[in-house]
Amino acid sequence: LVALETAGSGREGWSSRSAFVLAAIGSAVGLGNLWRFPAEAGANGGGAFVLFYIFCVVLIGLPLLLSETLIGRHGQSSAPESARRLARESGASRHWSILASLGVLSAFLIVSFYCVVGGWVLHYVWIFTSDLFQTGLSGGAFQGRDPAQIEALWPNLAGNGGLTVALDALFLGITLFFVARGVSSGIEVMAVWLMPAFFVLLIAITVYGAFGGAFHESMAFLFSFEPHKLTGSVMLAALGQAFFSLSLGVAGMITYGGYVGRKVNLATTSVIIAAADTFVALVAGLCIFPIVFAAGLGVNAGPALMFQTLPHAFQSMPFGSLVGIFFFLMVGVAALTSSVALLEVPTSWLMEKTGLRRVPASCTIALGAMILGALSALSTNELAEFYPLNFIPLFEGQGVFDVLDGLTSKLFMPIAAIMTSVFVGWVSDRRLVNAETGLSPTLQGIWRFLVCWLCPLTLFGILAVGIFPNLF
Ligand code: PHE
Repeated sequence: LVALETAGSGREGWSSRSAFVLAAIGSAVGLGNLWRFPAEAGANGGGAFVLFYIFCVVLIGLPLLLSETLIGRHGQSSAPESARRLARESGASRHWSILASLGVLSAFLIVSFYCVVGGWVLHYVWIFTSDLFQTGLSGGAFQGRDPAQIEALWPNLAGNGGLTVALDALFLGITLFFVARGVSSGIEVMAVWLMPAFFVLLIAITVYGAFGGAFHESMAFLFSFEPHKLTGSVMLAALGQAFFSLSLGVAGMITYGGYVGRKVNLATTSVIIAAADTFVALVAGLCIFPIVFAAGLGVNAGPALMFQTLPHAFQSMPFGSLVGIFFFLMVGVAALTSSVALLEVPTSWLMEKTGLRRVPASCTIALGAMILGALSALSTNELAEFYPLNFIPLFEGQGVFDVLDGLTSKLFMPIAAIMTSVFVGWVSDRRLVNAETGLSPTLQGIWRFLVCWLCPLTLFGILAVGIFPNLF
């Protein structure tokens, strides 16, 4: 490991390049890859969505990932302050920091509902563990229970307000523990231990699932391209998914970049992060769909895919309860390394803004996230009929959870991303920016073209098509 100094800023930072890479991959790989990607791919017709998703990752996500980390590394501060510093040194308006402030807001909103899903995952670890004790190791999970009982696991959880709120609090509490301990002794330690464990579990479960058959069917579903399925809303969904998955547009990578030392090559690390994230999303698809297909279940269950459809599949699987435990543990691990990143964004902002120390700052943010999160946790039960933004067509008939998800992934994140690309591509001082990227002149040119032209124009187009589908 190469020891890194954080540019003499006196701020704590990652202890090595690999620590940063693992933490950033930990931030990127999460429920977005394992739960949201397969659900979105299933609901948006498979291949067309997947291909457009990959297009978004390579041509839009990757250049923006580099842009975000370089803003952070240059500024060595919380996200808004880092953006302000680059703006100031470039002779531009300090109001450009709004791109990061919007991100801080999004990160706060996302962590509030993210921990709700994390709580559901914890519950499933518990369900499979207690099943293992009841029915033993050898056969499938849930022996002696009929399909209706398994089907009921999900509504029983989602419909129980007290339980979903308690689980949300538990998951948020675990997240807070690591954030409160700090960057190098909390966030980093967690990522360095948990990410390798995650990859071992993912590969093991995928290989195991592949032997169960239906692998070809899954490949066909995920990768066969049918152009007519590529509608505006599918494109916006794919873009939102790519951003969410790469942790872009929420100032997460600006924040993590703020802890990176001068010697790290940001371009190379961005490629590693994006590649690992996309790899995990695709493998997650190939892990989940064969299990679903082999059990003859439907693909377009949306959010319930993981919590309602999958548990059936573990019933017919040898060592089903054990595989179930490992599967949901893996999801929980991935979710935790992401929720920690999400909580860190507003925490670092609050610390800098108010001079509060890490522990009180993180507790304050967590308290706010808990209050808002409770509304999301209740949106599958007590508040199921509460549609806060019913008057806006994009959010009609959606509860708090879906509104917060849609508001961030379909509006705030793309807007912040458009601002980021304009800021880095057009507004910032070229020399300052070029000095951070670590790209060769040719690649620098390509990257500039993508950031200056392709990113803002495509983002703008997709945003418009997604918001006003009837205009086109
Ligand atoms: N990228 C994470 C996921 O895929 C979610 C996330 C978004 C984490 C933004 C941090 C910042 O689950």
